Amino acid sequence: MPRFVYLNGQYVDHSNAFIHAEDRGFLFGDAVYEVIACIHGHLADEVGHLDRLKRSLNELKMEMPVERETLRFLMRELLRKNKQKNAAIYIQISRGSAKRDFKFPDVDTPQTLLMISSDFDYDGNVGVVKGIRVKTVPDIRWKRRDIKTVLLLPQSMAKQSAVDDGLDDVFMLDKDGFITEASASNAWIVNKEGTLITRPVTHDILKGITRTAIEKLCRDENIKIEERAFKPEEAYEAIEAFTTSATALVTPVVEINGHKIADGKRGKITQKIYEEYRAYVDGLRGKQVSWESGL
Ligand code: PDD
Repeated sequence: MPRFVYLNGQYVDHSNAFIHAEDRGFLFGDAVYEVIACIHGHLADEVGHLDRLKRSLNELKMEMPVERETLRFLMRELLRKNKQKNAAIYIQISRGSAKRDFKFPDVDTPQTLLMISSDFDYDGNVGVVKGIRVKTVPDIRWKRRDIKTVLLLPQSMAKQSAVDDGLDDVFMLDKDGFITEASASNAWIVNKEGTLITRPVTHDILKGITRTAIEKLCRDENIKIEERAFKPEEAYEAIEAFTTSATALVTPVVEINGHKIADGKRGKITQKIYEEYRAYVDGLRGKQVSWESGL
């Protein structure tokens, strides 16, 4: 079956989707992206992801290359052409291609808009049930982690180093030893009182769309959340830990730096939040929340 990629106004065959050699995303990492889950045909938190995309572009003085409604249509058309009901949709927008120069090119330079939809088995995601094992590494990223840019080399190196150690992921540490987030997801712990703890939203982390939705679900379910930074030592004592993202959804963290979290299995609170989140995505919990930048 042919597989399509959307690139600059066309649905092209996956094996023929090429970006120009002087694309600024390629040369400078001058591009932003989003990943949106399509689960059983429902686009999870589409509004939030498109809000954040606009904000990321805005922070880098770029425009949306097409109207929001057009983008929504193009995404659905891509899924339809690829006959996908369960997929991760990747959207990347770069400042376009221009002669290599550190200053931005003319504002009328056409931007590059790329969309890739990849099959994703959300129901068969083993990590969500069995949990993942992580280690801590220094967070060596730039200081605007709130912007979802394609500058992902630090996260890629960190993740590879975890894999080289037979682990699944990392928790990154700021210069004071507090956990910022995982390589591509937000980090949470649950203390003995059953309160969730997660780092507040600043320029230090990406404000996850999944994180925002879960905050709202927890308010509805009377689960307390404390927004503050925490250190690995506190996480070792937690009764549960998990990460959240568009693809990981709600994934238990069962080991940190060799310390088992509780009994090393998915905890009840993590499971409940996962189930509530899935019900929310499936539209069983009313309207999905919008994402405001608030930064
Ligand atoms: N990553 N923090 C970082 C550094 C991320 O890259 C992501 C998402 C998140 C969670 O954000 P959200 O809940 O909106 O997916 C937090 C995506 C999935 C990726 O890069 O593939």
